[in-house]
Amino acid sequence: MKILMAVTGVFFVFFVLMHMYGNLKMFGGAEVYNGYAEHLRVIFEPILPRNGLLWILRVLLLASVAVHGYSAFSLWNRSRRARGTGYVNKHPIATSYAVRTVRWGGVIILMFVAFHLLHFTTLTIEIGGDYQALSPYERMVVSFEHWWVWLAYLIVMVTLSLHVRHGVWSSLATFGANKKRRETAINGFAILVAAAVVIGFMLPPTAILLDFIN
Ligand code: HEM
Repeated sequence: MKILMAVTGVFFVFFVLMHMYGNLKMFGGAEVYNGYAEHLRVIFEPILPRNGLLWILRVLLLASVAVHGYSAFSLWNRSRRARGTGYVNKHPIATSYAVRTVRWGGVIILMFVAFHLLHFTTLTIEIGGDYQALSPYERMVVSFEHWWVWLAYLIVMVTLSLHVRHGVWSSLATFGANKKRRETAINGFAILVAAAVVIGFMLPPTAILLDFIN
């Protein structure tokens, strides 16, 4: 179960970092960003049909969400059953803030992804304009011109970064990399990835909110 969690988790981290890198193309202007969004749809054509790679990714992501969530739930259940009763006195010392919030984090991230897909993929939730008539670049701009959209995304990105920090650390533990002498390096690496997630993802929305991108 832990290996399944770690493998799917590493896949998510790669996806998240690629997505973040793609979003940074907003700084290249409308042509660069829209060109990138279009390129994602035609990549490997004609070997794959239009949107082919995107659909492969979507299926892999969905399967990973199912496996990651199921493993999390059954590991949690197993440890609860093994303990027999709930803790009478709960004074966690060795668990960090990220470990304790990781379960709620998972639920928040899942709810965010559902909202996010309705917002930017199916274009069901339109904030700031008629999305059918706008380009992918314009949809980003009209969304993050609203401070509350920026704030909502910030809250989720901080939650995600705590989740990723714990995840990077514990997947390395699962793969057996966390020997005592490497503890500082692994902690540093987990914090680095977590910081990259918040800062990298929030750069384009912040630039839009402050009118550097319009
Ligand atoms: C500030 C943070 C984020 C912004 C501004 C953002 C923006 C976007 C945009 C604009 C799209 C649509 C791209 C297009 O039209 O081609 C998109 C798609 C998507 N995003 Fe995000 N995103 C963010 C964070 C995330 C996070 C944290 C996740 C996952 C945990 C995520 C998962 C996805 C997925 C699964 C898709 C759909 C890909 C598809 O099936 O077409 N996003 N995002």
